[in-house]
Amino acid sequence: MEIEKKSQVEEEEQIVTPWEVAAEKGGKIDYDKLIDRFGCQRLDQSLIDRVARLTRRPPHVLLRRGVFFAHRDFSDVLDAYERGEKFYLYTGRGPSSEALHLGHLVPFMFTKYLQEAFKVPLVIQLTDDEKCMWKNLSVEESQRLARENAKDIIACGFDVSRTFIFSDFDYVGGSFYKNMVKIAKCVTYNKVVGIFGFSGEDHIGKVSFPPVQAAPSFPSSFPHLFSGKDNLRCLIPCAIDQDPYFRMTRDVAPRLGYHKPALIESSFFPALQGETGKMSASDPTSAIYVTDSAKDIKNKINRYAFSGGQDSIENHRKYGANLEVDIPIKYLGFFLDDDAELEHIRTEYGAGRMLTGEVKKRLVEVLTELVERHRRARATVTDEMVDAFMAVRPLPNMFS
Ligand code: TRP
Repeated sequence: MEIEKKSQVEEEEQIVTPWEVAAEKGGKIDYDKLIDRFGCQRLDQSLIDRVARLTRRPPHVLLRRGVFFAHRDFSDVLDAYERGEKFYLYTGRGPSSEALHLGHLVPFMFTKYLQEAFKVPLVIQLTDDEKCMWKNLSVEESQRLARENAKDIIACGFDVSRTFIFSDFDYVGGSFYKNMVKIAKCVTYNKVVGIFGFSGEDHIGKVSFPPVQAAPSFPSSFPHLFSGKDNLRCLIPCAIDQDPYFRMTRDVAPRLGYHKPALIESSFFPALQGETGKMSASDPTSAIYVTDSAKDIKNKINRYAFSGGQDSIENHRKYGANLEVDIPIKYLGFFLDDDAELEHIRTEYGAGRMLTGEVKKRLVEVLTELVERHRRARATVTDEMVDAFMAVRPLPNMFS
């Protein structure tokens, strides 16, 4: 009996939900399997080429390197765009901690590029209510974190004339709430248990939350922005762990007379220790934070970043590094914009001519610059600017 239980645990499938990401024992997240299980589509080269053509600019590094690797109906959004129909972007953040790590910045950096390249409006949901319920934070603390996180989001460079940031605690009501109720009426308890795995022990706040994250997918939730534009399409850039919310949303959309929201989905930013899940906010050595000093970054990369290099210089020269498991190479893939340089490093390191120390040194430079730039940008974000982004107001020049 005991033995049987143990082997069951060992064979356990990877888990990817909005609240938990874990690879199969000892392995990496299997993204092909995820695409199959979730039923989304792979984002292939022809789609990337199409984005480049339509926006008349090179595709973003996170697109070129396959970090955003899956989608739902993204090609429909591009078809419509080609016909002259615009869309709006929707993304969000659950404000559970004060300091963001690099993984948190990934969707926002990408969303900023999309907003600029397509010249479209953007709504950003801060789910302070979600984190209050899941993380056992007080209402006040969740709201404070939402405002602090808004500053980091604004520091990514969003255009205030095209961006509306809102906290659920402040904004939910009116037309947004009407949509929540319409959505909720279309989803049975069994359905939500099937999608999210809630149990009888979970409080009813959790069970009732999914419509809150679904509602921004419909333009009528924002009458001050999209009044009379119920047909406007929505594109959601997010990490693939958010897919369950939007599977549910897409399921109910036609019944409410809306387009299904389209999605463009990323893989997870791996922890320093290796690619077995996403970074954990509770383990400071697993991630680089935007608040880390240059010295912190250097120490963390040198001490903790999992290396695919060989155990001795002789062996390394002979066999080369295993790039598949090497975290510095993975991180450079996210943030080193220069394709030729990355290719050069991969070749030299893979052949053993370059050592782990040299690769880590380059990564430290790249990350230090990124973090310094973010810190400088965040320091210029004032409370007035946060108020401006969060004000319920029309957005001038939304589509131009
Ligand atoms: N639930 C998300 C989180 O915990 C926040 C979120 C809300 C979100 N709406 C979204 C993320 C839309 C991506 C897209 O981080």
